[in-house]
Amino acid sequence: MENFMAWIEKRLPFMDAMNKHAIQYPAPKNFNFWYVFGILATVVLVNQILTGIWLTMNYEPSGDGAFASIEYIMRDVDYGWLLRYMHSTGASAFFVVVYLHMFRGLIYGSYQKPRELLWIFGMLIYLVLMAEAFMGYLLPWGNMSYWGAQVIIGLFGAIPVVGEELTIWIKGDYVISGATLNRFFALHVIALPLVLCVLVFLHIIALHEVGSNNPDGTDIKKPKGSVPPEEQSKFTFHKQYTKKYDIVDAIPFHPYYTVKDLVAVVIFLIGFSWVMFFAPEGGGYFIEAPNFEPANGLKTPEHIAPVWYFGPFYTILRVVPDKLMGALLMFAAIGMLFALPWFDRGTVRSIRYRSKLHLLNITQFAICFVILGILGTKPATDLNNLIGVIATFGYFGFFVALWFYSKGEKTKPVPERVTG
Ligand code: HEM
Repeated sequence: MENFMAWIEKRLPFMDAMNKHAIQYPAPKNFNFWYVFGILATVVLVNQILTGIWLTMNYEPSGDGAFASIEYIMRDVDYGWLLRYMHSTGASAFFVVVYLHMFRGLIYGSYQKPRELLWIFGMLIYLVLMAEAFMGYLLPWGNMSYWGAQVIIGLFGAIPVVGEELTIWIKGDYVISGATLNRFFALHVIALPLVLCVLVFLHIIALHEVGSNNPDGTDIKKPKGSVPPEEQSKFTFHKQYTKKYDIVDAIPFHPYYTVKDLVAVVIFLIGFSWVMFFAPEGGGYFIEAPNFEPANGLKTPEHIAPVWYFGPFYTILRVVPDKLMGALLMFAAIGMLFALPWFDRGTVRSIRYRSKLHLLNITQFAICFVILGILGTKPATDLNNLIGVIATFGYFGFFVALWFYSKGEKTKPVPERVTG
């Protein structure tokens, strides 16, 4: 057996990769609960792919059959209801964990040098995830699916000169039809999941190249020979995985974090199951009421609202009366997040050692983001629009203020070694 494994290893270094990226991966020893969301996102990704494959076995991607095939899955296919609710709850759970995962990066400065590319890959994942969710939402062919797609595809119509042609090209028809459904199906079940998996792979490789940040924002990798042996972590790593560095304040990922993450996964699955079994519609936020009626181009829902996770960007889109300008502002809002590593000109990463102003700025940003999200699911009354405008200023203000104060920011001394 040993000889056989050695034979394989020489030709396909599987154990070497496992050691490098999981078993022997040097993880900072002060990870806290904010560090579980990457693993949880991975768990949800696997859930979406598996339940998606089984749903596809009974789903019919056509204008005539889609709605009925979902009903068939819910009522007649063995455990079809379970598969569908695992998938629809999974979509919302994906965004819950990804938003918390991003927020962790924000408070601990994980986007700063040398992790800019890791952040960019994360943002690309986020973009693809939004496209994936948007296209998936059309597939049940409910009335909100239809009108939601109508609004979003309609945005492209605001682009001067080519806009109108572009919307027809996207739809594959003059109206949203079976042709649109078919292409969204193709993109949702194969093209985008493929891109997503490749991006997640690159995300992890980019992370492991530079190493994880931690709640103190310190560097746990020091140049070889710069740390006296007695100062180094008492845990030893296989020499080949720490060639260039002395690793201080780290523990091997396995078994320390495999066990800790397992606890998080179990707690997460308990919450997930509760929603799935007792409130799969999420109070109308996960599956909206008009989606229990089939798509009807002649019957507009009373107010068209996107699913909650698009809320913040939908509000930013809506607060501008001009359609094109609104769309541009919405894309700018996402663009700002991409450029975050360059808006922050500071060198101290963690919020623990940064100024009160930074704490205040992040707090107001988080509050504005939540308000924008809530408003996105509500009708656009005058009052809601006013609050939306203020929260939009707060959103963009975060980046502008950060650029100004981060250069000469008064920070606290960062400890050499991790605390806690
Ligand atoms: C499918 C979605 C995603 C998956 C499966 C995923 C997976 C992971 C995993 C497993 C880790 C290491 C464990 C951890 O630190 O939690 C990680 C770290 C990280 N991710 Fe993601 N991620 C996703 C989306 C994102 C997004 C949208 C962003 C930001 C735009 C992002 C930014 C980061 C950063 C900055 C780190 C390093 C954090 C640190 O070391 O402090 N990720 N990701």
